[in-house]
Amino acid sequence: MIRPRPAIERLQKYRPPLEGRGGKLRFDFNENTVGCAPEVIRTLRRSLTAEGMTRYPEYDEARTILAEYFKVAKEELLLTNGTDDAIQAICNTFVEPGDILLQPAPTFPVYKFFHEVAGGEVVRIPYDEHFRLPLKPLLAALKKHPRWLALANPNNPTGTIIPQKDLRTILRAAPKTVVLVDEAYFDFSGETVLSWIAKYSNLVVTRTFSKAFGLAALRMGCIFANAGLVEWMHRGQNPFAVNSLAMAAACEAIKHPGYVRHYAGEIRANRKQFCRLLDVMGIPYVPSSSNFVLTRFGDRAPEIGRHLREIGILVRDWSYDPHLRGYLRITIGSTKQTRRLVKALHIMEPLLDLRDGARAWKNFVTYSSTGWFA
Ligand SMILES: Cc1ncc(COP(=O)(O)O)c(C=O)c1O
Repeated sequence: MIRPRPAIERLQKYRPPLEGRGGKLRFDFNENTVGCAPEVIRTLRRSLTAEGMTRYPEYDEARTILAEYFKVAKEELLLTNGTDDAIQAICNTFVEPGDILLQPAPTFPVYKFFHEVAGGEVVRIPYDEHFRLPLKPLLAALKKHPRWLALANPNNPTGTIIPQKDLRTILRAAPKTVVLVDEAYFDFSGETVLSWIAKYSNLVVTRTFSKAFGLAALRMGCIFANAGLVEWMHRGQNPFAVNSLAMAAACEAIKHPGYVRHYAGEIRANRKQFCRLLDVMGIPYVPSSSNFVLTRFGDRAPEIGRHLREIGILVRDWSYDPHLRGYLRITIGSTKQTRRLVKALHIMEPLLDLRDGARAWKNFVTYSSTGWFA
């Protein structure tokens, strides 16, 4: 029997609960729950010609248009097949077997996934019990010169944001470590370090069209860094990773910033309302700067998740993770959708078991090595 590389043999199987979600209230994967700007669909229809489909994608024009939108030089931007492809490009470019990825925990598991595929090892530093970035331990770990550091900002699954002064301290402390600041949820937090790429030669920023822009199906994202780093990552990336339709959609989507602004504003308002309800119901949650809220429902979280699924509301149950037992991560949707969720939770109130909430809250800071994607 032919065997794969040892790095692949060591990987855990990837089993995301992603099937059969169409038509349901999708509060499980932090996508846009309403849809992209209608003009984007019209553009896609126009782009879908037999002749257009025969040609391999050409990147120059989209790169120019998107660079202008993001206010960077064209050489500072690389188009990617979603952020996942950006993470893979980083690993292809920088990671040798045995190299270290440093990351706070818990966080988005794809960093670890591609790093381990490349044969690297992961050092995790748990968030503190107030869900603040563990700055001191991170700085201490940076002294050992890890190859790269992955920071989702806001973080998934906590929704927390890293203060800019901490990011500055990190970037200064580790000039030889590639520091990724993944801004997938920027449109909801409003905080960015994108302009810092001109100042910090070790900074890589990523953005995606999968979240607020509502284009997760197309897989479209961008990497930003100084021109030197971008050139290396370009070499390390699959040359035709991004397809023509994704580029056409992204170039149209940025022409309608009001649409995304309006959507993000509605999500922020609904998040506030939803957290108020959690306060009233006595359900602990992590204050979020993103379009989701990590909530502690107690031992019956899986049951509550199942009940919600039965009535067509999908949420992400983190109970598969031994250290996040009792946690559901809930995406925030439109006002109407949020009302439907709130109504369902009220009906389920007798199921909510919060007795061990405080203790479980602390368990949250311990890292899980399940290797599952979130
Ligand atoms: C922090 C973070 N980065 C990136 C992504 C994935 O983005 P994309 O769809 O562009 O691959 C996610 C998706 O959940 C995420 O939570």
